[in-house]
Amino acid sequence: MPENIERPLHTWDVLEIGCGTGLLSTFIAPQVGSLLGVDTSKGMIDVFNTKTRAHPNMSGRVMLLESPEQLEGKKFDLVTSNLLLRASGITGDR
Ligand SMILES: C[S@@+](CC[C@H](N)C(=O)[O-])C[C@H]1O[C@@H](n2cnc3c(N)ncnc32)[C@H](O)[C@@H]1O
Repeated sequence: MPENIERPLHTWDVLEIGCGTGLLSTFIAPQVGSLLGVDTSKGMIDVFNTKTRAHPNMSGRVMLLESPEQLEGKKFDLVTSNLLLRASGITGDR
């Protein structure tokens, strides 16, 4: 069993790719240790970062899915995304 599964959820570091304004993040943040949201849109991240008042363990960063080196080797216990693949164009159907 992976080590992180045995650790309590409230200690997990979570990355959400394509976090938008944080609809999913604000649901997850109260359950975990930290949540970093990344998105290509500065406008989305600006709204996301206003939510850190209610969820101080959330932080948002403008970043391309294609540029993970910007995370500077940081490790996460869970990487999640919601409604990203079609929006990113990866599926080729937008
Ligand atoms: C449909 S929205 C979903 C937002 C959020 N996950 C939610 O469930 O409310 C998709 C988001 O993915 C972002 N996005 C699109 N391409 C991306 C990429 N290559 N890297 C990171 N984010 C991207 C968009 O800016 C947008 O905020």
